[in-house]
Amino acid sequence: MSAVPVYLETFGCQMNELDSELVRGQLLRLGYAFVDHPEQAQVVLFNTCSVREHAESKAYSRIGLVGKRKAAGEQVLLGVLGCMAERDGLDMLRRYPQVDVLCGPGELDRLPALLDAARRSEAATQAERVALAGNRTRRTATLHAVQDDLETLDLSRAFDPDAAGRARHSAQVRITRGCNKFCTYCVVPYTRGAEVHRPPDHIVEECRRLADAGVIEVTLLGQTVNHYRYQHGLALTVGGREAPQVGPGLSAFRQPVAEGVTSFARLLQRIHDEVPAIERLRFVTSYPRDFGPDVLQVMRDCPRICRYLHAPAQSGSDRILGLMNRGYTRAEYEAFVEQVFTFLPDATLAGDIIVGFPGETDQDFEATCSLVRSLPFKNNFIFKYSPRPGTVAIDRFPDDVPDEVKRLRNNQLLAIQSHTSERVHATWVGRTVPVLIEEQFESSEAPSARGVELRWERRADAPRRKALRGRTPGDLIVAMDLPAGTQAENWVGRIVPAQVESASALLLQGRMTQA
Ligand code: SAH
Ligand code: SF4
Ligand code: F3S
Repeated sequence: MSAVPVYLETFGCQMNELDSELVRGQLLRLGYAFVDHPEQAQVVLFNTCSVREHAESKAYSRIGLVGKRKAAGEQVLLGVLGCMAERDGLDMLRRYPQVDVLCGPGELDRLPALLDAARRSEAATQAERVALAGNRTRRTATLHAVQDDLETLDLSRAFDPDAAGRARHSAQVRITRGCNKFCTYCVVPYTRGAEVHRPPDHIVEECRRLADAGVIEVTLLGQTVNHYRYQHGLALTVGGREAPQVGPGLSAFRQPVAEGVTSFARLLQRIHDEVPAIERLRFVTSYPRDFGPDVLQVMRDCPRICRYLHAPAQSGSDRILGLMNRGYTRAEYEAFVEQVFTFLPDATLAGDIIVGFPGETDQDFEATCSLVRSLPFKNNFIFKYSPRPGTVAIDRFPDDVPDEVKRLRNNQLLAIQSHTSERVHATWVGRTVPVLIEEQFESSEAPSARGVELRWERRADAPRRKALRGRTPGDLIVAMDLPAGTQAENWVGRIVPAQVESASALLLQGRMTQA
């Protein structure tokens, strides 16, 4: 039997990228073959994101294209996975009958069975083709976390030393699923469910196996990664091994870490000490509250933990932060940043900001501008508020900032951030930094920021030389010439020292000091 060609496209965050990697591994083992274009595939899978309307419309337009192929008589099976599947639920099947399989992010371990049922018979029932957590998303009983088959998906990871490109030296490892925060604008607690922490032994083991396969950079993933907390010695185990655990309430973070608990700081220390082959250990996303000095101490004392924090402020106005239910004030955010730089003077800071939240006045917006001017953010992802069905904000606060104003504020803030980035980058000129080389490019390509992405575009007038680009431990992008007489492929995946010679808002320009 020949392999079934499958196309998988991913939208959204790093959590989704990791899910797609796990899905891919799972399907490869079952004999599916991955193809680069949807037209070549008999099975088309979209792993979707619901965080903003824009993310959803991109996926809907792809779903529409597959619908046209099916209407023209092509035999193609369409599966929608991820947060949009969970948020839209069965409603999606009603509105888009071309969708054959629906699978929420909490049910991905069941995907092969769903695809199998749908492929075997057109008469497969809805129950055989749909897996959503539905009202089980907010699991509160520890028992449910233990029975969480999703852990088997994380554990089933393929450790492929032959993986191409960046995948070979960089990997993501989930430490926490879901979120207990309930910021009023955000769908994630509904689509990903309650916070569930993976056992530390599983995480360390996964890191070790990745390192054995040649990975030197690991990014730990969680929505509020510093809320990681695992209580040992509980009776609930699976086959004698520790099992995933529902997170404690937010009040747990006001008390000291008890004996028998692996806190986030202890987890970092364990991975650092037990898997020394990981040369860069990083983590996202940090929640700016409950980020104790214990974590900063471990970051200071462990040389292979990157001194980089992605800790979104979201707004600089206390009134808006309150409406967002972020749980901190501007002064508390500033105090957090000050503490970070006291412990780690060479740290880098990045974040996210939402503009045009309901009721945001010029004064509120100015407060955000002044935050971005005054704190050393190397970059901020800036988003226009997008009302999301099912969230508290859409029910309670009318989306009253006109789109035109959102757009204007977005552009204004981008310009301010650009100055801040330039200032932060300038402090690195003259220093020698270790750079993990990620890829080669043509020096005639110049970076430009489009929305949240950095794109490299060719400039016809510039000289064409081969160049390398990579990142510092602090996630600063460094570009440098390819040393004469060497091949780019030999540098990719290696960490080399570079002297920073100049800087702009988007990147540092350096020179390799060892060639
Ligand atoms: N857990 C992370 C963020 C996850 S979502 C955290 O708390 O920081 C990524 C980013 O998308 C958020 O930081 C926020 O800035 C943005 N975002 C989330 N919901 C949004 C919405 N409804 N409209 C606009 N931006 C949103
Ligand atoms: Fe969403 Fe807030 Fe949770 Fe981040 S912390 S995922 S913004 S609810
Ligand atoms: Fe999007 Fe879900 Fe990630 S909504 S941002 S894919 S957690």
